Amino acid sequence: MGEHTLVTVDWPQSTATLLGPNSLANSIGDIHRKRRKVFAKVFSHEALESYLPKIQQVIQESLRVWSSNPEPINVYRESQRLSFTMAVRVLLGFRVSEEEMRHLFATFQDFVDNLFSLPIDLPFSGYRKGIRARDTLQKSIEKAIREKPLCSQGKDYSDALDVLMESAKENGTELTMQELKESTIELIFAAFATTASASTSLIMQLLRHPAVLERLREELRARGLLHNGCLMPGELRLDTIVSLKYLDCVIKEVLRLFTPVSGAYRTAMQTFELDGVQIPKGWSVMYSIRDTHDTSAVFKDVDAFDPDRFSQERGEDKEGRFHYLPFGGGVRSCLGKQLATLFLRILAIELASTSRFELATRQFPRVVTVPVVHPVDGLKVKFYGLDSNQNEIMAKSEELLGATV
Ligand code: HEM
Repeated sequence: MGEHTLVTVDWPQSTATLLGPNSLANSIGDIHRKRRKVFAKVFSHEALESYLPKIQQVIQESLRVWSSNPEPINVYRESQRLSFTMAVRVLLGFRVSEEEMRHLFATFQDFVDNLFSLPIDLPFSGYRKGIRARDTLQKSIEKAIREKPLCSQGKDYSDALDVLMESAKENGTELTMQELKESTIELIFAAFATTASASTSLIMQLLRHPAVLERLREELRARGLLHNGCLMPGELRLDTIVSLKYLDCVIKEVLRLFTPVSGAYRTAMQTFELDGVQIPKGWSVMYSIRDTHDTSAVFKDVDAFDPDRFSQERGEDKEGRFHYLPFGGGVRSCLGKQLATLFLRILAIELASTSRFELATRQFPRVVTVPVVHPVDGLKVKFYGLDSNQNEIMAKSEELLGATV
C-alpha cells in the first residue's frame, strides 16, 4: 500500500540497469500505471483462453520426456527449463529450434545469475557477464520478433507478444523495438524462477501427500475429465479448469506454504508511521510475504499442508486482505498471477491424469528459500507415464533399446 506516495520501488543498481529503463520494474508513478494498463491485456481471460492449448502442449511434452528418461530427473532444473520454454513458446510465440532453445536458456541463466551483482563493469565481473548475456538475449529476441508472423487480427491471439503490441496501439502508443525487447526479457524473468519454484513445490507436495493426489484424481473423474487415467482431449477449457474447487485449494496451499517470492523492497519517500513504528524517509523497507504467511493468525496449524483450509466452508484466506499474498498486493501486485495459476493447475491436472511418479531418494530433501524456495538437491523423482488403463508406459529409451537389439 502507498506505492508512489509513501514508498517507491527499489531495485539494486545491477537489476535496474540489466532490466532496462523501459521495464515495469524501473517505472514509477504515471509511467508505471500506463505500462501496467498496456500489459494487463496480456493476462486477460480471453488471452489466457488462447494460450491454454499451447501451455498444455508444452507441459505434456515435458512430462513425456521426463517419463521416458530411465533415470530420475532433477525436478527443479527441469521445471526451470519447462517454465522458460513456456515463456518463450507460449508468451512470445517464438518458433526456435531445440538447439537455439538450449542456447537461449543457458544465456538466460547467465543473465539471471548476475542480475544481483556489484555494479562494477570490469572484465570477468558478474555485472559484465550479465550485460553480455542481456545483449545476446536482446539480439536473439530482435531476430525472433522480426521473423515472427504478423500479429493475428481480432480476438484470436496466438501469443502474448501479439496482445502486447495490439494493446499498446489501443492505448495510443506503438512500442519501439527496444521497449519490446526489454518487456520480453522482463516477462520471462518474472515468470521463470517463480513458476519453476512453485511447480517443484507442487510436485513435492503431491509426492508427500498421496491422499491429496487421489482427491485431485477423484475431482477430475467426477467432472468427467479422467477416464481410466487418460485426460479426454479437448475437455480442458479455461472455465472448467477454474471451476475445479479442490485443485484451486491445492494450488493456493502450495503457494502459502512454499511462497516463491519472499517479499520485496521499497524505499520510504516520506517519514510515516506503521503500526506505531516510525519509518524515516529514505529508509529501505521490506514487506515479507513469507513471514506474513508464517505468522498470520488466520491460518490454523500454520505448518501443516492442508488444502482444505481454502475450502468454501473454512475459507481461512477470506478473513482479511493482508494475510494471504503470494502475488503481492497493491499497484505492484503480480501481473502474471492468473497465468501462473493456470499453468500450475494444468501441470497438476496432467500429473494426476497421465503420470505416476515417485521420490528417488530415501528422504525428502531440505528446502531452502534463496533466491526462491527450492529443494537443496533439486528433488530427484522417477516419472512413469500411464497408458489408458493406468499401466506404466515403458520407458521410451527401453523401447528404443529393444527395437535396436
Ligand atoms: C507462482 C508464480 C509467481 C509468483 C509467486 C509471483 C509473485 C509476484 C510478486 C510477489 C510480485 C510483486 C513484487 C513486488 O511487490 O514488488 C510480482 C510482480 C510481477 N509479476 Fe509475478 N509471480 C509469479 C509469476 C508470474 C508470471 C508467470 C508472470 C508473467 C509472465 C509474472 C509477471 C509479473 C510482473 C510483470 C510483475 C511486476 C508488476 C509491477 O511491477 O507492476 N509473474 N510477482
